[in-house]
Amino acid sequence: MEKLIVRGGHRLHGTVRVSGAKNAVLPIIAASVLGTEGSKIAEVPELEDVSTICKVLECLGIRVDRSEPHVLKIDSRNITGWEAPYDLVSTMRASFLVMGSLLARVGRAKISLPGGCAIGTRPIDIHLKGFEALGATIKQSHGSVEALAPNGLTGTTIYLDFPSVGATENLMMAASMAKGTTIVENAAQEPEIVDLANYINVMGGKVRGAGTTAIRIDGVKSMPGGEHMVIPDRIEAGTFMVAGAMTQGDIKVENVLCEHLKPLIAKLREAGCIVEEGINDVHVVGPRELKPITIKTMPYPGFPTDMQAQVMAMMCIAKGQSSVLETVFENRFMHVDELLRMGANIKTSGGRAALIEGVPKLYGCQVRATDLRAGAAMVLAGLVADGTTEITDIYHIDRGYENLVSKFTKLGADISRVG
Ligand code: EPZ
Repeated sequence: MEKLIVRGGHRLHGTVRVSGAKNAVLPIIAASVLGTEGSKIAEVPELEDVSTICKVLECLGIRVDRSEPHVLKIDSRNITGWEAPYDLVSTMRASFLVMGSLLARVGRAKISLPGGCAIGTRPIDIHLKGFEALGATIKQSHGSVEALAPNGLTGTTIYLDFPSVGATENLMMAASMAKGTTIVENAAQEPEIVDLANYINVMGGKVRGAGTTAIRIDGVKSMPGGEHMVIPDRIEAGTFMVAGAMTQGDIKVENVLCEHLKPLIAKLREAGCIVEEGINDVHVVGPRELKPITIKTMPYPGFPTDMQAQVMAMMCIAKGQSSVLETVFENRFMHVDELLRMGANIKTSGGRAALIEGVPKLYGCQVRATDLRAGAAMVLAGLVADGTTEITDIYHIDRGYENLVSKFTKLGADISRVG
């Protein structure tokens, strides 16, 4: 089984370039099902999750050409299927995002229930309630969800009980070819939602208000498709920024939209970092001693839950007591046990609150990547730990970080992949 070996004690320095955003490209690839001709997508990160959703499209009869690095050429003229199989959906729940575009394009979809994962049960009730509001009939049986709209969908106003990122995306796609206008209220406002809306509009759709809590979608009869460049991955960027902060480093992260990172930038400054925001990059200088901070994860524009594990790793070596309140997922503390193994001092309560007493040093040992961002947190902890840290189950990390080892090596880290 492959693992990462990280030897701590190296200050990071130099420049690293961030790839396209995983959480933007996945819904964008799903939205390509809407196109009656085809699409070309650039700045596509080479990730396991991208391969998985491309396989889902191929199950639907769509041709995906990946011969050019970081580019997808999608021929969506012929849709021959409307089912996403269990083996693909179970490895990546974002496969569920094809339900909305299939409903809009062919009036039916059958998707294996995505099931939960390490960070929570991950229900889809908000998605399904929205599809029904648009006029679809939903049937759940034998571990699958079937949505039917033989006469098409009809625009309406949908209020989301929680600003779910995936539900906002699925409903934007479903509504893009509904009869009339749909308003999604209490919508998620993440930058990835805006990127998807921009892509739907390039394809021939009419989406306005993305990035606010109310998104208006005017249904169109058909959408040919179009070309799009995916926004940079703010979470990958944030992960490198925290690495610079933790190692008393001096790094520049390129291909960054600082506007998407305001909460993290504010927290890194509170922790004592120098953070200089450029037009398309960010410069981070880590302090000799990190100050403790408090974070509360919230839907965008609040502090991102996808940076919680990484920042907790940083808190482990700050001087004083830090705290974390995780309000988005019910079980996103799987990294705590692994950090404790490295000598961290963390007390949790109720699976959502944690108090972190900074310790002078972490100690390298064998740890697991329990989920994607927890795996990234283990790498960060290994960068500052005394000795060698071996990280297993790194397939989680491969889902969301392109060329992690080579990027960290370029910054001066002692990290390698073995096995
Ligand atoms: C997206 O997941 C991201 N994944 C996640 O990133 C991210 O953590 C999450 O948004 C929150 O920002 C992708 O974009 C592929 P949600 P998603 O629906 O859409 C509850 C990563 O590390 N909920 O906003 O699944 C849900 O249980 C991944 O890159 C319902 O109750 O997130 C959770 O508690 C991890 N019913 C909360 O809402 C629903 O129907 C947020 O979920 C849907 C969601």
